[in-house]
Amino acid sequence: MADLMTGKWTLITGASSGFGEEFARQIAARGGHVLLTARSLDKLEALARELGGRGGVQARALRGDLAAEGGAAALVRAVDATGLAITHVINNAGFGSAGPFNDLPAEREAEMVRVNCEALTVISRHFLPQLCARGEGGIIHLASVASFQPTPYMATYAATKAFVLSLSLALAEESRRSGVKVMALCPGPVATGFQSAAGIGAIAGPMKMAAITSAETVSRALDAYAAGHEICVPGAVNKAITLGTSLLPRTLLARVAGSVMRLGGRR
Ligand SMILES: NC(=O)c1ccc[n+]([C@@H]2O[C@H](COP(=O)([O-])OP(=O)(O)OC[C@H]3O[C@@H](n4cnc5c(N)ncnc54)[C@H](OP(=O)(O)O)[C@@H]3O)[C@@H](O)[C@H]2O)c1
Repeated sequence: MADLMTGKWTLITGASSGFGEEFARQIAARGGHVLLTARSLDKLEALARELGGRGGVQARALRGDLAAEGGAAALVRAVDATGLAITHVINNAGFGSAGPFNDLPAEREAEMVRVNCEALTVISRHFLPQLCARGEGGIIHLASVASFQPTPYMATYAATKAFVLSLSLALAEESRRSGVKVMALCPGPVATGFQSAAGIGAIAGPMKMAAITSAETVSRALDAYAAGHEICVPGAVNKAITLGTSLLPRTLLARVAGSVMRLGGRR
């Protein structure tokens, strides 16, 4: 299927697993070229070998650690050094943690803010002006259903995703007249490497009702992005949850979210 990504380069952060890997596969299947980045260079190179060459698709891999001091700035310099014209950016790299805030290691929480918020901001700030000047392309930011509500026992994670959603909607408005798309993708729980990185078990309890696959999530996201949507919440249960969050006072939302997290065994 030819679409706006066909023949264009897309930079994908966090492309070594989960949604990032799935984005790479589906964009390559649509004839797009992919520049893959994460820390696990071996996995990226294997994926680039697998996707490159099919139907003229080009795929390249670049290592980058977005939790490192200056890691995002180093990555954008490395991307610029490739000389590739990046037309789409998928700011997907991220991770979570779970447990009582008071017990979680402070350095890991700070790293999460660096990867989920700071790096995403630095990367968008680098590419968005170029895209606006060219009047094409855009950025997908990985937010979450957690963007819509304070989430006890995943407090920092949900706060980082609230930042991503807010930034994304503001940038979508700022970019609207230039023809550049900015979309926040807000998945609910999906089985990826996320659960083990966050130190949580398989998706269980009430959260299972909202679960859809990584492939479905990415396919709906790419269609929504092509259609010019500013937010994509894949799945009917996830849509209902985010609608519900707009109806309740935020203090009550935090209580409800805390109860769901306890029921789901997150605490
Ligand atoms: N799965 C879910 O339930 C869910 C729901 C809503 C939103 N999300 C969001 O979706 C995004 C992708 O997560 P996922 O679910 O696909 O999890 P995943 O399978 O664990 O993928 C996370 C990706 O981020 C990369 N990453 C982590 N730390 C990094 C660092 N310091 N520097 C560079 N890259 C780093 C990882 O690569 P390396 O380890 O190789 O660096 C990996 O490619 C995240 O932003 C997450 O918050 C996930």
